[in-house]
Amino acid sequence: MTNLQDIQACVFDAYGTLFDFSSPMQRRREKIGPEADRLNLLWRQKQLEYSWLRSLMGAHADFWQITAEALDYAMAACNITDKALRAELMELYLSISPYPEALATVEKLKAAKRRTAILSNGSVMMLTAAVNHARLTPHLDAVLSIEEAGVYKPHRRTYQLVLDRLDVQPYQVLFVSANAWDVAGAAHFGFQVAWCNRAGNLPENLPGKAVAEIASLDQVLPLVGL
Ligand code: LAC
Repeated sequence: MTNLQDIQACVFDAYGTLFDFSSPMQRRREKIGPEADRLNLLWRQKQLEYSWLRSLMGAHADFWQITAEALDYAMAACNITDKALRAELMELYLSISPYPEALATVEKLKAAKRRTAILSNGSVMMLTAAVNHARLTPHLDAVLSIEEAGVYKPHRRTYQLVLDRLDVQPYQVLFVSANAWDVAGAAHFGFQVAWCNRAGNLPENLPGKAVAEIASLDQVLPLVGL
């Protein structure tokens, strides 16, 4: 088993990794109707596309705005016009469900004196709400939003925030993400990366490879010798 001796800090991606981005849709599945799964897929896909495209265009807007704009696209594509439903789905993003093993994993890392952090595209407002709701706050040394870099992952400036804030070298960071493109970006930057491949996806054909592939967050613990 991979044992990453030098790891000082475990840094987690947020949406898809600690938090289940399908949970707002799940909580309104009946109200959305038969298009619920398609709506959710499009919502996430457009949210990510807009983050990458705005970064390339030099037209940054925060993640709350692009999450709303992505939802508008997805709702239009599914012919859903319910304004109240739109407001509810956005509101639910602030109390987004953590994955069942998220809290215990971060708690154990912190108790074992590893430094813990989040690095996410999410705005400070979104991350603060989600982290508080999941009761993760006391177990995290830092909650880093890419807003400080003014550009989205996988831009190198975003990963650099971790080094600046936690005062560590790239090889001392175990970055954990469920998003294969974020795995590639973080590994290419120089982090050790664990890919939490919940969905059994294929790896991306991009530079930057994970040092470990895990199926759930608790599998991070043996990687760092716990
Ligand atoms: C994040 C995106 C990848 O949390 O969902 O940064």
